[in-house]
Amino acid sequence: MWLNNILETIGNTPMIKLNRITKNLPATVLAKVDYFNPGNSVKDRMALKMVEVAEKEGKLKPGGTIIECTSGNTGMGLALVACVKGYKCIFTTTDKQSKEKSDILKAVGAEVIVCPTNVEPDDPRSYYSVAKRLEKEIPNSYLCNQYDNLANRLAHYETTGPEIWEQTEGKITHLVCTAGTGGTVTGVGMYLKEKNPKIQVWAIDVYGSLLTKYFRTGEIDMHEVHPYISEGFGEDFVPKNYDMSVIDHFEQVTDKDGAVMARRIAKEEGIFIGYSAGSCLQGLMQLKDRLKKGDVVVCIFHDHGSRYVAKIYNDQWMMERGFLDVKTFKDIVNARAGKKLVTIQPSHTVADAVELMKKYVMDGNGIIGAVSENGLFQKIFSNPEIKNATVESVMEPAYPVVAFDTPVERLGSLITKENGAVLAKDEKGDYHIVTKYDVIQSLAK
Ligand SMILES: Cc1ncc(COP(=O)(O)O)c(C=O)c1O
Repeated sequence: MWLNNILETIGNTPMIKLNRITKNLPATVLAKVDYFNPGNSVKDRMALKMVEVAEKEGKLKPGGTIIECTSGNTGMGLALVACVKGYKCIFTTTDKQSKEKSDILKAVGAEVIVCPTNVEPDDPRSYYSVAKRLEKEIPNSYLCNQYDNLANRLAHYETTGPEIWEQTEGKITHLVCTAGTGGTVTGVGMYLKEKNPKIQVWAIDVYGSLLTKYFRTGEIDMHEVHPYISEGFGEDFVPKNYDMSVIDHFEQVTDKDGAVMARRIAKEEGIFIGYSAGSCLQGLMQLKDRLKKGDVVVCIFHDHGSRYVAKIYNDQWMMERGFLDVKTFKDIVNARAGKKLVTIQPSHTVADAVELMKKYVMDGNGIIGAVSENGLFQKIFSNPEIKNATVESVMEPAYPVVAFDTPVERLGSLITKENGAVLAKDEKGDYHIVTKYDVIQSLAK
């Protein structure tokens, strides 16, 4: 048995039970893992449907050009459809999207035009305006417009919804789904509510998007809109694919919480998903008190983690945005279980100091110098008599003193070949030392 082309592998994705992260919830939590589609995202479904409908309506003719504004996933789906059906593809995207996403689109033959993110949708530079202009300029071209093209939600009404119903044998009680164009949540929600109007449909949004406020008040409030880091969902307008009457609740998730949860899903469930899947499950966890025993929750995981390796799966990227709890000097000291810095008086002899190797010289005014193993070795080697001299006469400059909450990453650059270590005072006023070796050990953990 074989399939006739790659498009025949779209849909019929697996439903996978989550076991660890959701273990304390009374409900069964299932993930509809749509990265199993050939383009690694749920959007393959609607890409195929938009082209099929356009062909049927005579809007797309053989040899034509498909144009779309896409953050990558819809583009990937359209590019696969274009390959098989023999169309050209041009995509406009924003500079906020992962570079990997554009590179992948180019790999499957598409042309990608990157436009600025922080401009109004009607600005001629916006990815939306550029796509519209291209459609006017290029003969026999078709702008899919996933936002307002109802073939988008139709794809989910015809495929994703029925699959979820069958895979849960009609037992689903809650659908949880991130919302961007609204195609997935509306299409799936419509189908499921027709089957059982009691099913709760929860849309997950991001802070910085106006969708949640619009859902709650009916107001399009541009004050709600601010740049956010999450990718693939949230909007600064209300696309026509929404039918808010099928949605019971909108929940907002922070950029940090979505990213942290995506990493947990990858590590704890072994499902390597994209940013929005993290936000989806985070949204559910925020609403967990509304669940009861026997509930069957389905979360839609839209895409694969490989497109985010330089972002949420990169520790440096996460730290720079304050998304990872940063280890500090204090954490290194706390890990030593109360061991104190040992000091020596300046009037003691070098011989005493040798006894207390690597201890630090202090007078009534605090740390005034240091006696290091290396420094003393050199001095005793060239003049053995020095052992009777005072510490004061042989000590080296004191180690630099830094704040107790200095991040370990920063300590790496403060500890140089010359000083070899840094000191910091804790809350009680006691000094502690961190050496180059401590930093290496801490970062390696
Ligand atoms: C990764 C990802 N998550 C979520 C969504 C939101 O899905 P929808 O546009 O159907 O609302 C998209 C849509 O592009 C997406 O690419």
